[in-house]
Amino acid sequence: MSDAPTTTGTPAATADEVPFIQDEAPFIQDEAPFIEFVGVRKAFGEKVIYDDLTLSVRRGETLTILGGSGTGKSVMLKLLIGLVRADSGSIRFDGQELHGRSEEALLPVRRRISMLFQGGALFDSLSVGENVAYPLREHFRLSDAELAERVKKKLALVGLPGIEHMRPAELSGGMRKRVAIARAIAADPEVLLYDEPTTGLDPINTRRINELIRSIQRDLHVTSLVVTHDMASAFMVSDRMAMLADRRIRATLSRDAFRRSSDPAIYDFVHAMSSTDEAPLDSLSTPEHAARSDVPQPKGVSR
Ligand SMILES: Nc1ncnc2c1ncn2[C@@H]1O[C@H](COP(=O)(O)OP(=O)(O)OP(=O)(O)O)[C@@H](O)[C@H]1O
Ligand SMILES: [Mg+2]
Repeated sequence: MSDAPTTTGTPAATADEVPFIQDEAPFIQDEAPFIEFVGVRKAFGEKVIYDDLTLSVRRGETLTILGGSGTGKSVMLKLLIGLVRADSGSIRFDGQELHGRSEEALLPVRRRISMLFQGGALFDSLSVGENVAYPLREHFRLSDAELAERVKKKLALVGLPGIEHMRPAELSGGMRKRVAIARAIAADPEVLLYDEPTTGLDPINTRRINELIRSIQRDLHVTSLVVTHDMASAFMVSDRMAMLADRRIRATLSRDAFRRSSDPAIYDFVHAMSSTDEAPLDSLSTPEHAARSDVPQPKGVSR
C-alpha cells in the first residue's frame, strides 16, 4: 500500500490550487497498516453515516479525525471496539478482521484497544483507585498489592499521584479527564481511542491533556486515534489528520499538509476554528506560519 497521503471523494478546488501537499510526518513509513477501515458502510435506520469509509492508521502514530458534529466521529471509534457494528466493509486490526466477530472473539481486542469516552465516563460510585483498577480486574488476575502498585504508577503518570481514595465527584473537570486517561492506560493497551479529550477544559488543562497524549505516544509507544473539534489541540497532538465529511474520509494528510490544504471542507474547518479558539499552541508558531498573513499568530508561545 502506498504511503502517500490518501484522498477520497472529489475535492472542489480550483485548477491553480494545490489541494493536497504531500509532505510526510516523522514516523515509520514502510510498515503495513495497524488499523484499517476499508469500504465501511454504516446506517442507523434510514440515516447513512458512512457509505464508503476508508482509513489506514500506522503503528505508533497519532491520527486525529476531524469533522462536523454528527458526522460519525464517535461511531468510528466505537466500530473499532465493537460497540457499534458496521453494515459492510472491512475493519482490520493488526492483520485481523474485526467485522462480524462475536462479542467473545472481540474480548482480546478490547484489552489491546482502549477508549477514552466522550465525557470521561468515570464510575461515580467507585473511588479513583477503583476506577483505574477496573480494567486491570477485567483483564488480569493480580494480587491486591500488584493492583495497588499499577494504579499508583498510572496515577503518577497522569500527574495525579496519591489520589486513589478520592471520589470522582470531588475532582475538577481536568482531573476527571486525567483519571479517565489513567484508567484507559491501566491495562497497557497498544491503541488508545480518545473521544473529545479536551472538550470543556480551560486552556491550561487542555494543554496538559495534549502533552499527556504526546507523552503516552512517545513513552508508552501507543498508537492513538483522537477525535476532536479543537483545531489547536489537533495540531499539537497529531502526526496526521483525517477529515470526515460527506459520509467518508475525505482526506488523510500529515499535520502540515492539513494546515495548508485548500480543500474547501478542510480550509473552512481549519480557519473557522482558528479564528474562534484560543491561540494555537507551538505547532502554529513555525516560520512558514509567521510569514502567512491569513494564519492567526500565536501570542507568547515560545518553542
Ligand atoms: N446507537 C445509535 N443509534 C442511532 N443513531 C446513532 C447511534 N449512535 C450514533 N448515532 C447517530 O449517528 C450519527 C453520528 O454520531 P456520532 O456520535 O458518531 O457523531 P459525532 O461526529 O461524534 O458528533 P459530535 O461531534 O457531536 O460528538 C449521529 O447522527 C447520531 O445521532
Ligand atoms: Mg462524538
